Amino acid sequence: MSVRILSTSSLAGGALRGLGERFPELLVAPFRSKAWHAAMAEAEALVVLLSEPLTGEDLARAPRLRVLATYSVGVNHLPVALCESRGIRIVSTPGVLTDATADLALALLLGLSRRLLEGDALVRSGAWTGWAPEQLLGTGLTGKACGILGAGAIGKAFAKRVWALGMTPLFWDREGLGGEVDFGPARGPRLALDELLPRSAALSLHCPLTSATRGLLDRMALEKLPTGAMIINTARGGILDEGAALDLLRADRLGGVALDVYEGEPAVDPRWFQAPRTLLLPHLGSATVETRNAMAELLCEGVTAVLSSRC
Ligand code: DGY
Repeated sequence: MSVRILSTSSLAGGALRGLGERFPELLVAPFRSKAWHAAMAEAEALVVLLSEPLTGEDLARAPRLRVLATYSVGVNHLPVALCESRGIRIVSTPGVLTDATADLALALLLGLSRRLLEGDALVRSGAWTGWAPEQLLGTGLTGKACGILGAGAIGKAFAKRVWALGMTPLFWDREGLGGEVDFGPARGPRLALDELLPRSAALSLHCPLTSATRGLLDRMALEKLPTGAMIINTARGGILDEGAALDLLRADRLGGVALDVYEGEPAVDPRWFQAPRTLLLPHLGSATVETRNAMAELLCEGVTAVLSSRC
């Protein structure tokens, strides 16, 4: 069988099946498997996951490629410049995962600030002896400032949520210093990182991983956070220096760290497993049935549009 569309996964829901009905020359084969390598020579469309970093060498095997689709909003795992130079369209899934990702970041912030895991563990252990005035006291959020790195759709959706809790959103983004960010119900100042960090009782990452944001939150930056600050990362590992965050957490300089993404994921630095005041998730930002279905639909629409066009 000749292959026009080569996907490494069936994706969620029925969208890819629908795409296969329209373009029967569709093959699902694991990333870099023998079948995948063999089909690259003919493939006009490639569908990959965010956990599958494509290289220029991979692309060199696909001379007929017209569209590269990723089942994610992030494109940091793709050779974007090379695709541009070869005229290969990149399809990703912006918009449809905004709310799901902002919801998860909020869940992590509340989970950290109200010590949900410790409370759950205490009850499950059978050792809970009853209500006590100072038992598992958390940190209030109302009236405090929340630093938000990235003022795109997800950053704004997260701002809306923390604003509803009575927090003040402060933004940093690549657009630079100055002005205000309109996040719907209100506006928040766009600040330089040095100004934002010392004011942030909580800090949530919502920017893409690029050469400009890699290592953005290094040790020096993290030391500017106030004592007790909480960090939430649902964006990408590599933006945050995890080793420095771990050191500051162990030194009681940070109030908590919640990670949904990791620099070398799925590998996780095992020191996190014993670290206090942490919440660790396996990259679940977009993981709702509705969102994963919508992502698959959007991706398949993008692939269809390219394959149906003449050029
Ligand atoms: C994406 O799609 O890039 C997100 O990381 C999902 O959580």
